[in-house]
Amino acid sequence: MAMEDRIRELRARMEDALAKAENKEQLAEVWQNYLSKKGQVADLMKGLGSLSPEERPAMGKVINEFKGLAQARYEARAAFLEAAELEKRNRAERVDITLPARKRPAGNLHPITITKNEIIDVFAGMGFEIFESPEIEDDDHNFTRLNVPKNHPARDMQDTFYVADDIVLRTQTSAGQIRYMDEVKPPLKVLVPGRVFRSDSDATHSPMFHQMEGLVVDEHITLGDLQGMLDVFVRGIFGPEVKTRLRPSYFPFTEPSAEVDVSCFQCGGKGCSLCKHTGWIEILGSGVVHHSVLKSCGIDPEKYSGFAFGIGIERIAMLKYGIGNIGLLFENDLRFLKQFKD
Ligand code: DAH
Repeated sequence: MAMEDRIRELRARMEDALAKAENKEQLAEVWQNYLSKKGQVADLMKGLGSLSPEERPAMGKVINEFKGLAQARYEARAAFLEAAELEKRNRAERVDITLPARKRPAGNLHPITITKNEIIDVFAGMGFEIFESPEIEDDDHNFTRLNVPKNHPARDMQDTFYVADDIVLRTQTSAGQIRYMDEVKPPLKVLVPGRVFRSDSDATHSPMFHQMEGLVVDEHITLGDLQGMLDVFVRGIFGPEVKTRLRPSYFPFTEPSAEVDVSCFQCGGKGCSLCKHTGWIEILGSGVVHHSVLKSCGIDPEKYSGFAFGIGIERIAMLKYGIGNIGLLFENDLRFLKQFKD
């Protein structure tokens, strides 16, 4: 066959193959068959050898032109397929920005956390630090150094979970007082929030609950300072109208000790079901830090004095939100939890 005919025939076949190539793999096959070093276009060049030297330059030029054209055809098809591919992908990935967004349900803080944060906020405003103390505690920190020696009847005030002979789940955040005063010497003001554990369960008691311990030690600290700070605290939590009242009580680690009542924020003190018609609601225990507690932490009770208090966080939350059963705070029923937004 004459070279021109071969070229024409090859061109027709290649264009047909290109038109049929629908993807990268098929395109690569066309390249391999026609345009690679071993392809049919290269074969044409080899065919030049059978021509006479006079014919060769002109025919070489024709073949070269065809080679350029074949290359261009190939590239055009490749570009077309690539654009089609992109278009297809874009179409598949198209989003309708007019659709309403899918809603992600937003959570909210647990009422215990909300209450804890509120208490911290009020005391942080008075310069208190926060200190965390372990939930698994030794007998020494939970009892002995808080002036509750072994066999002291006051140990019966709390039903303790024992982990080992001298290791307990802490029954009170008061243990944190000892740990803090081992590290920090007065003047000091600290809050110890955390979980505590007692074998006790009814509508107002849970085997695990939360306390917030407060401790202030400095020179010349008195019960007056305690009551002043507690007034700021209850107003921060229950509103500007309330006030506190101290009633004599007993705790081994304070002397004197006091139960603190807040005037009823529901009836303003006139008497209602919430305050059991007394006008007052008991909210926490407190007192002047016992000299033996200070001594056990290497603090001179002749020079320094202090006060401490222990707040039950569940109790405050239940009063504030009118929750009748402590169990609701731990059941994690979303219908209950969703009602609290801080
Ligand atoms: N730890 C006591 C309790 O769990 C509460 C308490 C009372 C803490 C008086 C104090 C305090 O710091 O001074 O019942």
